[in-house]
Amino acid sequence: MNIEKADAQAVAKAGAVLRAGGLVAFPTETVYGLGADATQAHAVAAIFATKGRPRFNPLIVHAVDVATVERYAIMTPVAKVLAAAFWPGPLTLVLQRRADSGLSDLVSAGMDTVAIRVPGHPLATALLAEAQVPVAAPSANRSGRVSPTCAAHVAADLGDDVDLILDGGPATVGLESTIVDCSGEVVRLLRPGAIATDLIEETIGSPISRVEGATETPTSPGQLESHYAPAARVRLNVERPEKGEALLAFGPNVPEHNGLVLNLSARGDLTEAAVRLFASLRELDQPGVSAIAVMPIPDTGLGEAINDRLTRAAAPRPRV
Ligand code: TXA
Ligand code: MG
Repeated sequence: MNIEKADAQAVAKAGAVLRAGGLVAFPTETVYGLGADATQAHAVAAIFATKGRPRFNPLIVHAVDVATVERYAIMTPVAKVLAAAFWPGPLTLVLQRRADSGLSDLVSAGMDTVAIRVPGHPLATALLAEAQVPVAAPSANRSGRVSPTCAAHVAADLGDDVDLILDGGPATVGLESTIVDCSGEVVRLLRPGAIATDLIEETIGSPISRVEGATETPTSPGQLESHYAPAARVRLNVERPEKGEALLAFGPNVPEHNGLVLNLSARGDLTEAAVRLFASLRELDQPGVSAIAVMPIPDTGLGEAINDRLTRAAAPRPRV
């Protein structure tokens, strides 16, 4: 078994694996990441191979602190304001790469920008400090599947294809980071996420433009791709679940249902719902289930990111 409880010894070992060009799955506050040294092209390529990503989407680079970020990318004034407010934490900034960044071109998919974040999870911080290299890490799931919020999810998806899985318990936020593009004149929201959009707008002092459908496809906006998807079909805004479906409920008023039922938050709390979203989708994704029926979820605060993930989970699947 390649899962290790994330104590000091395991973190030291994981740092060595990363420096040697290996793959380490590690906890962050959002979801578990599949990490590799962002300066080694071979290591970054192994991420794509292991996830089974059909294309080279650009990845998020994780850095230990803001000073380290400045070695790789140019922090604009807005970027500095957002970093001061939310780092370490679940915010990713897309910035212009420095010419001498040393980052592999593959992490940026050949673009002159790079997505960077300083994670807030103590084990992620410890790993980055130990490794002494910037760590490229997408979510540690097979491409297109539900993001992992605990070590067992990673093991189920990637198993022995990862050199080491650091077990740091369940993720505390449960939704991927919010991605804000600060690389150009106009600040844009590329992915709603763990920090609610209105908080970002409050911090920069103006409304932010949303790039519709840009998640996971920064080069071809407008395409809604299947993603974050369980094997079972997903049906949204369901008031009355059908026979054979599993029900993903939200709030206190749950319709009677003869079948699997999980409630994201019985008290209608969106933060609690975010924490439970991906684990609940995995749990309801049973062989006999005809579809996962999801009750309506308000689109306010974290609800925007939750509905973004659910809409993608419900999108038509590509034929393989
Ligand atoms: O919470 C998170 O962000 C997690 C944890 C592990 O940190 N990571 C994560 O990574 O969600 P991933 O690879 O699943 O998502 C990366 C997203 C993609 O939507 C990608 O298109 C976007 O970041 N991205 C990366 N580099 C970019 C760039 N230079 N320009 C625009 N978008 C970029
Ligand atoms: Mg992902």
